[in-house]
Amino acid sequence: MSTIVLPDGHASSEARLDPYLDPWAEIDRLRRERNAVILAHYYQDGEIQDLADFVGDSLDLSRRAAATDADVIVFCGVRFMAEVAKVLSPGKTVLLPDMDAGCSLEETCPPDEFRRFCESHADHVVVTYINCSAEVKALSDVVVTSSNAEHIIRQLPDDRPILFAPDQHLGAYLVRKTGREMTLWPGTCIVHDRFSERELVRLKGRHPDAKVAAHPECHEGILKHADHVGSTRSILDFVLNAPGKEFIIATERHIIHQMKKAAPAKTFIPALGADGSCNCAACPFMELNTIEKLHLCLLNMAPRIEMPEDLRRRAYRPLRRMMEMSPPPRPAVARAAE
Ligand code: 13P
Ligand code: SF4
Repeated sequence: MSTIVLPDGHASSEARLDPYLDPWAEIDRLRRERNAVILAHYYQDGEIQDLADFVGDSLDLSRRAAATDADVIVFCGVRFMAEVAKVLSPGKTVLLPDMDAGCSLEETCPPDEFRRFCESHADHVVVTYINCSAEVKALSDVVVTSSNAEHIIRQLPDDRPILFAPDQHLGAYLVRKTGREMTLWPGTCIVHDRFSERELVRLKGRHPDAKVAAHPECHEGILKHADHVGSTRSILDFVLNAPGKEFIIATERHIIHQMKKAAPAKTFIPALGADGSCNCAACPFMELNTIEKLHLCLLNMAPRIEMPEDLRRRAYRPLRRMMEMSPPPRPAVARAAE
């Protein structure tokens, strides 16, 4: 498995930060000094998104990590994303501000159980969603993200059955979209699985003109009400380009930061959980990264992702296939016309 190298005496490292230092200025100084690039996912806190060199979805971030000429990649996201950066850019130092920034989908798919599952479906093409460990990727034929999954699955030979892991809701959505039969691993995301259909119908009642945009990790009860289903980046493109002023957002709520910046005249309403609050719409793993931890990791050059070369090579093969089978990169996000 990949390992996380911690700073020396890491338990007390937060206490060692000088409280009089401006973390933003220090991050700027350190990123120049270390020739580091800061990549951030749309689910990061707004202040992290604002200081990142690039903000994107899983596919765009993977592409950036593969193409960068920086010496250091600071990955403001979760561990599987930082691992992908290491697999694609083995010569770079890859830092993750909080070593505990995992993902519930990754947790639902332990590599040993997944290996047995693959062995019992030996004739299947193994397609894994990028939200999984490097070990699970290494057992796969091809990796997909929510923005290229449909495109890639349509290229797979018709006569081969497909095994899809670990997100059952994305898998079921892809079955409906492509008409391909798939055997699904029963994983879910703790954020997208908690949105409530009843609360969504109530929200739509209160905002009858609002369009609904949803991530395919949501269950069918949410997706069937959606005007648009897609990756974080495609949700962002949809709300910026679609006519209308109000949008209900059924994905992690920190992406609303980018929406407000790019379309200040529009209103974005987070989807709700069964208790009628939007608390469930925050990813507890993404929230572990903070400005202070970002500063510390650049200072200490840790937590740092390391991986045995054999594992990296095995995980690289299905990721390279993903890159080869993906649609071309999209242009940068544009501001909405006022
Ligand atoms: P995207 O690839 O759409 O950015 O999704 C990543 C993710 O973790 C969704 O929960
Ligand atoms: Fe994982 Fe869900 Fe968080 Fe995305 S939102 S990183 S799938 S736990």
